[in-house]
Amino acid sequence: MWVRVLGAAAGGGFPQWNCSCPQCRAARDGSRPCRPRTQSSVAVSADYRRWFLLNASPDIRAQIESFPALHPRGVRDSPVQAMLLTDAELDHTLGLLLLREAGDVEVHATAAVHETLCGGTSVLRILGAYARVEWRPVATGVEVPLADGLSYQAFHVPTDKQARFGTGEGEESVVGYRITDGRTGRALVYVPGAQRLTASVRDQLEGCSCLLFDGTCWQDDELIRLGIAGKTSRDMGHLPISGADGSLKQLAPLPIERKIYIHINNTNPILLEDAPERRIVEEHGMEVAADGLELEI
Ligand code: MLT
Ligand code: MN
Ligand code: ZN
Repeated sequence: MWVRVLGAAAGGGFPQWNCSCPQCRAARDGSRPCRPRTQSSVAVSADYRRWFLLNASPDIRAQIESFPALHPRGVRDSPVQAMLLTDAELDHTLGLLLLREAGDVEVHATAAVHETLCGGTSVLRILGAYARVEWRPVATGVEVPLADGLSYQAFHVPTDKQARFGTGEGEESVVGYRITDGRTGRALVYVPGAQRLTASVRDQLEGCSCLLFDGTCWQDDELIRLGIAGKTSRDMGHLPISGADGSLKQLAPLPIERKIYIHINNTNPILLEDAPERRIVEEHGMEVAADGLELEI
């Protein structure tokens, strides 16, 4: 299975248009080594011909252009078969509106996410005025075939957080995806937002070959320290990387070939290649995703 990181940043991208935190400054003035990143999305394929996107970022147009395998092969055509949504957040769904030129758009989402996108943001209602939206309801724990031997199982990612515009009732406002290649049995797990690493989430990581996991903030109070927000990373639904109960300590011991942080907020010092925090992540056997990272698993 092919996995291509289209974008590795959290909402706002890196640098963010209205941010001059140390990382965003460095990305603009080149004073520290770092690479700009678009908002998080990943493309997956079994054969490099048909692709499935994990979330639809507001940067989707540039992301498709950046990767020739996603370019059309006919006058009106796209190798992108469907979008698999983990939640309704704008950085994961606004890109749907940019697909309005399509005849059909296949969207996999839980009932709660679908309801929010029809009511809370109207994203799918607006898209429906341009293209036929094929909603594939996602139920957790059910194996769903995609194409070319790929299948997925969604799993519940427990969170207290709801999107600010959320209307979707019920449990499944955030899910992770485990995508398996039936030819090899190898699996990718995608969790760009996780408030807690519960036993049930851990179970889903078992035996996977590659994990792409929430790397939003380094410290729980990162945004408070910078005076950007009054909320902690956890309050916003993102387990921080550092700390005794942070994601790094919990994920580092797991026997997974590639463990990679994605959905990295521009305030996170791991974006700077010479930062001590970046070294700590790498010393623990974990990686920091950048746009264009491609894996064969
Ligand atoms: C998040 O990841 O917490 C959201 O994308 C935040 C937001 O965009 O408001
Ligand atoms: Mn986000
Ligand atoms: Zn910034």
